[in-house]
Amino acid sequence: MQHPPPNPRPPTVIAVDGPAASGKGTLARAMAAHFGFDYLDTGLLYRAVAYFGEVTPPVDAAAELAAATLARVTKLAASLDPQRLNDPHLKSEKIAAAASYIATFPALRAALRAYQVNFAQTPPGGLGAVLDGRDIGSVICPDAKVKFFITAAVEVRAKRRFLELYGQGHKVVYAAILHDLIARDRQDSGRQTAPLTEAKDAIRLDTSTLSLEDARDFVLAKAQVQLS
Ligand code: CDP
Repeated sequence: MQHPPPNPRPPTVIAVDGPAASGKGTLARAMAAHFGFDYLDTGLLYRAVAYFGEVTPPVDAAAELAAATLARVTKLAASLDPQRLNDPHLKSEKIAAAASYIATFPALRAALRAYQVNFAQTPPGGLGAVLDGRDIGSVICPDAKVKFFITAAVEVRAKRRFLELYGQGHKVVYAAILHDLIARDRQDSGRQTAPLTEAKDAIRLDTSTLSLEDARDFVLAKAQVQLS
């Protein structure tokens, strides 16, 4: 008599949420490399839809997105080509602001959900997945084995984002970046659907005064304990 194959273990998921430029991407990548998991920067999905969908945030933030535009970008989101996530244009703060704008629309979020859930459930390497974003621990992967909420003072985050973009050759002004981050924090935390949320069971880390090495050591040690 043939025995059924043993139940394959579902991939392990680590969820990393936090505001813009808090260090969550760097720490998520470090954990993925350490544990041999695959990494998904979910912000890139929103950025790609904003960029390839040619969305410009309205001057009047309360203005409605035209129904036809919403239908067009939702369609784009539902069939997003992963190759498009590597486009260097996605990195600018202008695209980040447009991403934050379209991220307020529930239909658009729903269209991007499948991509993220699919990645978490079937990561390319099969072992596990680290996803970073705003609603990973709360909405996309509420059952993640480990959840982090990474934050830092907004001035520290603006300085980091300034150095990051400057290093990539973008023309940037610190005061403008600080202004953009404050506006984006407000929009990301205040929207009705899946706002930036610290999951109840998340491990919180404020990286304002930590070196990258110390922050990395902290998350690796915490994740190691929860995964064993
Ligand atoms: O890199 P940074 O932290 O500045 O932003 P990002 O992670 O690339 O995300 C860009 C924008 O997409 C955010 O400001 C959010 O409005 C939105 N986003 C979201 O709503 N949910 C996610 N899981 C990821 C990003």
